[in-house]
Amino acid sequence: MPDFGVRYTARQRVKAALPENFKARISTYTDRVNLGLDRTLPPTTTRPHRLHDAMRYSVLNGGKRVRPLLVYAAGECLNVDTPLLDAPAIAIELIHAFSLVHDDLPAMDNDDLRRGKPTVHKQYDEATAILAADALQPLAFAALSRIENVPADAVIGLVQLIADACGSIGMTGGQSIDLSAEGQSLSKQELEHMYALKTGALIHAAIVSACLLKVGLPPADAEALDRFGRDIGIAFQIKDDILDVEGDTEVIGKPAGSDEALNKATYPALFGIDESRARCDELLAGALGNLERFGSSAKPLVWLARYIVERGQ
Ligand code: IPE
Ligand code: IPE
Ligand code: MG
Ligand code: MG
Ligand code: MG
Repeated sequence: MPDFGVRYTARQRVKAALPENFKARISTYTDRVNLGLDRTLPPTTTRPHRLHDAMRYSVLNGGKRVRPLLVYAAGECLNVDTPLLDAPAIAIELIHAFSLVHDDLPAMDNDDLRRGKPTVHKQYDEATAILAADALQPLAFAALSRIENVPADAVIGLVQLIADACGSIGMTGGQSIDLSAEGQSLSKQELEHMYALKTGALIHAAIVSACLLKVGLPPADAEALDRFGRDIGIAFQIKDDILDVEGDTEVIGKPAGSDEALNKATYPALFGIDESRARCDELLAGALGNLERFGSSAKPLVWLARYIVERGQ
């Protein structure tokens, strides 16, 4: 296991040192998942070349890799061997990439740019974007099926977890609600339900993946991480919405694919930016409370949770 174990006595020294410490850890893990993704995606020399090129473009064109990082950080929290975490980290990131390709399509958010580059349907064409995303989804489960040295019931548990998080009771269902909620006024509860599905489900699955790989995990520990995953998943989407608003005002007015232009039902649009920030902080506090029982082994998760609500992109 990588060593997080720098010991500090003063609380302030821990706070000051942790980001620096975890930044080094992040590049180790992002390099690890990027290599795994590169090896999982068929090369562009394999036919059909254009489809494979588009798949690789959609996955390997940047991305913060927050979900894989959560898998590895939860694994560290529970002392799960890192190689076991690779398959769920890769699978969840592939599903995330597929969700973004569809999210950007003209029939959905009609976005021209993703990660500062042309979206897949702009770089290639709509049909290729649809097919590339279609192909990323089964590739995720193929990657998951290649996990080694894990009992069959844990593998089945991972498949069920990630399939549910991806499907109509997870991300896809949330995206459906998101589209039908455009121009509507939702209650906070309805809005957070949509966020829990469209964004929270995959983030929650990243955390729970590590739990399924921990033999003999006490139920109370599993429940605490389950609650952590739910809170931080909703906070992630509220922060994404805040960034969308801030991006609009700071850069170029109101881009075509912005939440405001699409009349999206978002936390800032319905309840204002101050309430959005306050809700993020409240969710973060609740999430962090669930990590207390794990002591210093939860430091990477603590750092990532803070990053999720404090990030600038
Ligand atoms: C963006 O997710 C889409 C949402 C679910 C809000 P990320 O902010 O994780 O996107 P990348 O992968 O880092 O580009
Ligand atoms: C995306 O939400 C959620 C997904 C499941 C892809 P958004 O539509 O707000 O994501 P961005 O802002 O386009 O990345
Ligand atoms: Mg969307
Ligand atoms: Mg979008
Ligand atoms: Mg957004």
